[in-house]
Amino acid sequence: MVASVRAEGSVTLRSPIPRPAHAHPASAPASAHTPGHTTARIPSPPACEPVSRDDAAAAPETVRDLFPAISGDGPVYLDSAATTQKPLPVIEAIEGYHRRHTANSGRGTYPWATTLTRAIEQVRADTARFLRAEPEEVVFTAGATAGLNAVALAWGLTTFADGDEILYSPGDHASNVYPWLQLRATLAHFGRRVRLVPYRTTALGEADIDDIATKLGPRTRLLTVSHLHHVYGARNTLEELRGHIDARVAVCFDCSQSGGHIPVDVRELGADFAVLSAHKMFAAPGTGVLFCHRRLHDQLGPFLPGGNSGVSVRDSALLPARMPHRLEGGTHNIPGILALGAALRVLDSIGIDTVERHNRMLTRRLVDGLRALPGLRLLPGPGHAPCDTGYGIVSFTLDGISATDLGFVLSELGFLVRTGAHCVPSEAAGEHAEVVAAEADSVRVSTHVYTTAEEIDRFLDCLTTIATEVR
Ligand SMILES: Cc1ncc(COP(=O)(O)O)c(C=O)c1O
Repeated sequence: MVASVRAEGSVTLRSPIPRPAHAHPASAPASAHTPGHTTARIPSPPACEPVSRDDAAAAPETVRDLFPAISGDGPVYLDSAATTQKPLPVIEAIEGYHRRHTANSGRGTYPWATTLTRAIEQVRADTARFLRAEPEEVVFTAGATAGLNAVALAWGLTTFADGDEILYSPGDHASNVYPWLQLRATLAHFGRRVRLVPYRTTALGEADIDDIATKLGPRTRLLTVSHLHHVYGARNTLEELRGHIDARVAVCFDCSQSGGHIPVDVRELGADFAVLSAHKMFAAPGTGVLFCHRRLHDQLGPFLPGGNSGVSVRDSALLPARMPHRLEGGTHNIPGILALGAALRVLDSIGIDTVERHNRMLTRRLVDGLRALPGLRLLPGPGHAPCDTGYGIVSFTLDGISATDLGFVLSELGFLVRTGAHCVPSEAAGEHAEVVAAEADSVRVSTHVYTTAEEIDRFLDCLTTIATEVR
């Protein structure tokens, strides 16, 4: 084998890595949907639009200079779905806050404090514009996980009645599964039994619209979906369901993987709730955004009552104030929010369309190369699509080596990828094994605007050698 793993963890190369000719895509599977479902009530998705294959230089090479951690000759970072690299303005925003004007926001009346308060509200306005929302619909959170839990606690706890249902995908990220399991458990203490109804994923890794349509019922109160799936890299817009979903159903989009990768337009998506993870869109860990559609504001209870929260007291009772402060409490993550503001400006200057085109180009290049490898199996996702789609996430397994071992070998050879179950909850999968297609152990390659085509080619060369050797 080319790369043998020694006991102490180092890797020896036994042969040089050849440069393969990239093969053309294999033919797509016959059906995009799980067999046995009908499309009786729901119109078919729009046909593929032809995509130009010559957009190799979608992002200018200078973009990479913005990201100091990958500026040298270090390893090739292919784990942007876990977290993105940070551009200089984001680093400067975090450092500048600590180095120059450290103060609390929303409290003091001196200029450092008032400037910060205004800066935070400016980031809120910028985030609202980014999502096509209103500022009062934008809540700052500690991340996407915190945002989804806020939906459960601030909305679900008070809104769900005995017998209500949550439609969800057990193959989604744990952060879009566990909050609903916990909500069900909490409500059970109060005698309200809520049912979790799982829906299927198609061979393309997309939420199965037909299955959802069949399962939407008079007791459905919440339908939750990932906008971009974190393992399959497939996009869900629920477009075909628009106009078919009753107003009593709240629709929640987990936009952790789509934010900063493709446009996230909450109005177009028909979202009632949407969460973003700032550290996956160039900003800092511990920061996120929860979008709450104005129509649900009356149904939201204070999520973090305390100091600096939108709550006051009258006759010993809490009076919730206006949104979005009603769902915020305590000291804001000030450097995190300032970093988010800087990240949005960087994304604006690059252009989200450029990011999207660049990731699509890299994904197609990657998929074309992977298809040519012996023993390599692509998980569901754009790799199986008849169209030239792709959003910067591709997952696969390779015969003859476990994904975990392969990840280790790749890292020794200078390629940083994610391996394992990728936070798809194994328990939930077990409970609903028939609707979950996720592999327990796979390799995930994820790119961003700073990833180059040349890096993808080098990765493919390396993997080709490994694939040949482990057969
Ligand atoms: C689809 C998805 N949802 C939620 C999360 C959790 O995001 P955060 O780290 O902001 O809590 C992740 C992170 O990996 C994710 O990929």
